[in-house]
Amino acid sequence: MKSMQFKVGPMDNFSYVVWDESSAEAALIDPAWEPGKLEAFLKKERLALKMVLLTHAHPDHVNGVNYFAGKNSGLPVYLNAEDQFMLEERPAGLRDAAEGDKIRLGAGVITVMRTAGHTQGSVCYLVPGAVFSGDTLFVGECGRVDLPGSSPEALYNSFVRLAGLPSANALYPGHSYNGDTSTMGVQKEYNLYLKLALQGRREDFLKAVK
Ligand SMILES: [Fe+2]
Repeated sequence: MKSMQFKVGPMDNFSYVVWDESSAEAALIDPAWEPGKLEAFLKKERLALKMVLLTHAHPDHVNGVNYFAGKNSGLPVYLNAEDQFMLEERPAGLRDAAEGDKIRLGAGVITVMRTAGHTQGSVCYLVPGAVFSGDTLFVGECGRVDLPGSSPEALYNSFVRLAGLPSANALYPGHSYNGDTSTMGVQKEYNLYLKLALQGRREDFLKAVK
């Protein structure tokens, strides 16, 4: 599967187009700002939009959903059930993205990894060789846990699981904070939070995120 990163909006958000080359079927991850940019790319590459994948329900990640859902009636929109209450408008095709779910995209498969912490319903989406981490894991940083519904303890458990992903996996975060992309291997070496999780240092992790 292939992917393209788009830096959009006033908060350095990333949206992504992910697609299966053999079928030209595409998914949008966190379409929020400048939806026309994503739409133009789909058109240029002759990709058929089949679904929207949301990492969590904060407005800066979801506010472009209805632009696409309005033009594609019943477009599947995946969002973990725990975050669905935050949506101002529920798209008709809203579906749960639950731990371990396998979502087919053409000949490819996208796996849902539940990573609560930044929000209760935060997830990461795994494709072969890459992880789309939303606001859970950034280059050199972790997601904020001082927001309503955030949980430092849950984020620690999520980081322990993320630390188990193969080092060769590319990391595609939800914002451009210290960088645009990395690999899980580099993050395991240089990301303080991932290092603490790898070492099982729960108390130090909880202190560091506060
Ligand atoms: Fe967020």
